[in-house]
Amino acid sequence: MLGTRFGFTAVAFFAALCFSAGLLGVPAASSDQAFDGHRTVGVRKCATCHKKKTLGNQLAAWRAAPHARAFETLSNAESRALAEAAGLSLPPNQAPECLRCHQTGFGLPEAAFAYEIDPADGVQCESCHGPGRDYRKKKIMSDPKKAHAKGLFDSDDPAICTACHNAESPTFDPDRFLLADGTRSAFDFEVAKKSIAHPIPEATKGHYLEIEKKLKAQGKKVE
Ligand code: HEC
Ligand code: HEC
Ligand code: HEC
Ligand code: HEC
Repeated sequence: MLGTRFGFTAVAFFAALCFSAGLLGVPAASSDQAFDGHRTVGVRKCATCHKKKTLGNQLAAWRAAPHARAFETLSNAESRALAEAAGLSLPPNQAPECLRCHQTGFGLPEAAFAYEIDPADGVQCESCHGPGRDYRKKKIMSDPKKAHAKGLFDSDDPAICTACHNAESPTFDPDRFLLADGTRSAFDFEVAKKSIAHPIPEATKGHYLEIEKKLKAQGKKVE
């Protein structure tokens, strides 16, 4: 059942329906890059490959950064105070006004998901990389052109971030980011990217399939 699948109460689920239909007047968080019908799989599916050391263990980097905790944050005292100040009738971890930026795929219809995703996983890989159902095969992933054709976003697009990092966030701070020249700004793509960096190691980038093939010939697996 959809209600239990996403861990919503009936009330919040109804709110989510109104929300996705735009009845609450709050736009869904998404970048300009088209979703084009590709479905979301959730971080656990990406992790089967992206927890490997050879690929750079993006899973560990994500877990250590704020996005993985975005849902958990909505249970803290600061969040409750913000929700109260905003006059919300639901607790922040059930309120569409908060969840739309603190949870991947919030408010999207069931058809947008290929698997159950856990709301507790907060802002997951696909909020920034695009829904991965059609690009997640390693042969496609290893060919950036094909991967982009199948829904992988172009990472070099600040609009992906500013879909959430904008003045509609109740904790928005116009001076949040300190730039190299000493000035401050609300959001700086380069500084922000660096602080959540999770690169593929130089030696692997563009060579994963070759590495896998070589190891296989030796009877070994990619770690
Ligand atoms: C079956 C294994 C596998 C799965 C599952 C997988 N990936 Fe990948 N991914 C790879 C491989 C292999 C590469 C390319 C490595 C290389 O450079 O040779 C890659 C590359 C990438 C890149 C870099 C693409 C570029 O610009 O060149 C991103 C971003 C990425 N994956 C995100 C994801 C996300 C998000 C998910 C989950 C929706 C995911 N991957 C699921 C194996 C996988
Ligand atoms: C438009 C997107 C958006 C909405 C809506 C939103 N948030 Fe956030 N939230 C963010 C972003 C982005 C951050 C990271 C800090 C920042 O830029 O505000 C954040 C950070 C936070 C933090 C951590 C504060 C900090 O300074 O690090 C708390 C607490 C929080 N949000 C609570 C809430 C609550 C409660 C609601 C609903 C009343 C809410 N947020 C609605 C995007 C949003
Ligand atoms: C908040 C947004 C965000 C989240 C969440 C996120 N990424 Fe990324 N990721 C980026 C950006 C931005 C880049 C590009 C960095 C650059 O070009 O310097 C990137 C780069 C990558 C790369 C390519 C690195 C390279 O060297 O080419 C891979 C692979 C990747 N991410 C996988 C993942 C996986 C897997 C997850 C989830 C476990 C994840 N990302 C979560 C924003 C995100
Ligand atoms: C789906 C909404 C969403 C998207 C898209 C998003 N973020 Fe975030 N981001 C958040 C939320 C929510 C937080 C606060 C998490 C918390 O502290 O619980 C946050 C926190 C951060 C922080 C820590 C900020 C601080 O002052 O503590 C950085 C850095 C960051 N994001 C970078 C990025 C970058 C870079 C991108 C784009 C590649 C991006 N984010 C895309 C929602 C998002």
